Amino acid sequence: MCLRKRVSWLAFLYVGLICQLAVSQHVASRATRAALILLASTSSPAVLAETDSNGAAEESTNEGAAASGSPSDTEEIPETCQDTEDEHPVERYNASGDRVITPSELAKHVGEGGASETNQIWLSILGKVYDVSTGEDFYGYGKGGYAYYAGRDASPCFSTGQNNDEGAAEALEEWEDKKLMGVWEWSTFYEDHETYKYLGVLAGSKYFDDEGNELPVRQDIVKRASEAKAIADKEREEKKKKRQAERLARKNKQ
Ligand SMILES: *[C@@H]1O[C@H](CO)[C@@H](O)[C@H](O)[C@H]1NC(C)=O
Repeated sequence: MCLRKRVSWLAFLYVGLICQLAVSQHVASRATRAALILLASTSSPAVLAETDSNGAAEESTNEGAAASGSPSDTEEIPETCQDTEDEHPVERYNASGDRVITPSELAKHVGEGGASETNQIWLSILGKVYDVSTGEDFYGYGKGGYAYYAGRDASPCFSTGQNNDEGAAEALEEWEDKKLMGVWEWSTFYEDHETYKYLGVLAGSKYFDDEGNELPVRQDIVKRASEAKAIADKEREEKKKKRQAERLARKNKQ
C-alpha cells in the first residue's frame, strides 16, 4: 500500500516537473524573443503589448502548475510511510523459521557513533547475518580494520582481504574449493562465536531469495567448502601423526 502511494506520488512529481520544465522553457523562449524584438526593432507598441499579454498568460499557467504540483497532502504521505517502516519493521521468517533480513535493513546497522543495544553492528557472510557489536574494535564505524564488513555481505573479501566494493563483488562461486574454504572458515567462526549472535538470512542476495529460501548457489558453495575443509583437516591430522611416528622412531634408535 505504502509502495503504491509512493509510486503515485513520484509519478505526480515527475509529471509536475515535466510541466514546469516545458512551461519555463516556453517562457524563456518567449522572453528571448521579446528581448530580441526590443533590441532589433524600433519598438512597435502593438508587438510589445502582444508579448506582454502572452507572458502574463504563461505566468498564470506556470503558477497553476506549481500549485497543483505541491499540495500539502502529497508531502505528508511519504513521511508517514517512512515512519511506519522504520519504527515497526514487519519481521518476516523463512520456511524454516529463520528471520529474513533485507539488504537495506542490514545497511543501517554499522554502529555509527558507537555501538550499543539500539545501535548494533551487523555483518553478513554467505548470506547469514550476525550481530558483531561486541567486536566493535574490529568492525566499528571508522574504527576497526574490518569496518568494511559492517552493514553488508562482503563474503569474498574474507578470503582475499580486498576489502572494497570490487572485492565484495567477486564471483566466489566460481572459485576453486580451497579458496572458498577461507570464507567458509570465517563463516563457522561467526557461527560458533561466543558473543556474536546469529540473526537471520539476507534476503534477495546471491545466497537467499526474497522469501529467505536458500539458493542452489549457496548450497553448492557450502558443500564444496565444507568438503574441502574436511579433507584439509584430515591431511593435517595425518601429517601430525606421521611427524609423531618419525620422532618416536628416532627416539627408539638412540
Ligand atoms: C532458512 O534459513 C536457514 C538458515 O540459513 C536455512 O538453513 C534454511 O534452509 C532456510 N529455509 C529454506 C526453506 O530455505
